[in-house]
Amino acid sequence: MTPTSPHILGAEFVCAVCHVVVDLDATLVFGCPHVTDTDKQHVLHIREAIRPLRPVADSNPFLSFRKHLTVDAFGARVGLAEQERINIISATNKQIEQICGTGFISTPITRQDRLSDALGFSALGGVWVKDETHNVAGSQKARHLFSTLLYLLMSEHASRVPWASQAQRPGLAIASCGNAAIAAATLARAVQWPITVFVPESASHTVLATLQSLGATVQECRRQQDDAPGDPCIHRFREAVAGGAIPFSVQGTENAWCLDGGRTIGWEIATDLDFVLDRIYVQVGGGAFASCVGSAFKTSGIHPRLHAVQTSGCAPLSRAWDVAIENGSARDAGARWHECMWPWEQEPSSLADGILDDETYDWISVLNAMADTGGHPIVAAESDVVRAHEMAHEYTDIDVSPTGAAGLAGLIQNRSLLADNERVALIFSGVTR
Ligand SMILES: Cc1ncc(COP(=O)(O)O)c(C=O)c1O
Ligand SMILES: [Zn+2]
Repeated sequence: MTPTSPHILGAEFVCAVCHVVVDLDATLVFGCPHVTDTDKQHVLHIREAIRPLRPVADSNPFLSFRKHLTVDAFGARVGLAEQERINIISATNKQIEQICGTGFISTPITRQDRLSDALGFSALGGVWVKDETHNVAGSQKARHLFSTLLYLLMSEHASRVPWASQAQRPGLAIASCGNAAIAAATLARAVQWPITVFVPESASHTVLATLQSLGATVQECRRQQDDAPGDPCIHRFREAVAGGAIPFSVQGTENAWCLDGGRTIGWEIATDLDFVLDRIYVQVGGGAFASCVGSAFKTSGIHPRLHAVQTSGCAPLSRAWDVAIENGSARDAGARWHECMWPWEQEPSSLADGILDDETYDWISVLNAMADTGGHPIVAAESDVVRAHEMAHEYTDIDVSPTGAAGLAGLIQNRSLLADNERVALIFSGVTR
């Protein structure tokens, strides 16, 4: 089909490793077609969407930025009229609101005066914090998952799925023991879609109780004798997907659609701030979050230095940055995956326990965004992770978790290198549970 508008032109996925282009017309595509049982090192990136950023007035970011969402372009491509697409987004958001008490809303970003003073910034500079803790399911994870859910629902509406009725829907699957699991179970519950959550033995009782109350099937994963290295929850998740389950994941490698809706966070920041932002510090686990912030800023035409923050207890991204520079460049390192990114060997540990992914799945785009903006990764000392959580509670009114405040640990560590009048953004991304 010949593209008919810039909106549709922007809608394509390209593998950052083998460069295959995946057309949106394909049915239920979540990853690169060149992934095999023995070669998982591929990741689809969204080919640049349209610019400039042109939001329309709506409190729901999935409606205000709809024209920039790849999933909306997909809906158009498979024949859904604009009003039909809007209705799907609005109706699903209402269902989520009924479960959660809130649907998707643009979350506030404000200068935190006490925190800015405590960190020694001048009146011209300071720290602006976007508060994601009141978002759907208490973190940014639901934004990533909502674009996947919309993809599934739009596919159903356009008869682009192999099942004939809702009763025959294959189950959703996710491997997570924290915010992503709760966000996934919340969205699944809102649309009555069965979901299995693969959790480690160490999963917290609070998370397990929440998942159960949301009606998710929880499967505890122990390491099995013949397991390959890596997270056993991911192994069981991949087995479920191989058996027909839908990868409802917040890792771009498993499901590229999560890299679509996550961008609404960056678009909101770009729209809300009416001054030039110098830097942003983003806490990184699997990397989808920072990847989306980076690509959203790029389409918005703003270029603060991006700093990906990990903890000294688990820092595979920073290692990849160093190796990529040594063997060529930090940019476009996809073809050098096996040299740059491999699982963290030590047992990961930190108070910020939500960013302990032993591999940064979405590392390629985060490296690109740091290289493009003159940023670099930061490995925060554990003492700064603890201090960041304390300072967040002492100097702001946001009930943020240690994971959600970990970007601040990067700023604390980096502070002596910054001028007092720099303007810095953080995203407090997850509520205390
Ligand atoms: C509150 C919070 N912030 C940030 C992250 C990191 O996101 P990502 O795994 O996409 O890098 C997580 C991941 O679990 C999280 O729960
Ligand atoms: Zn590929």
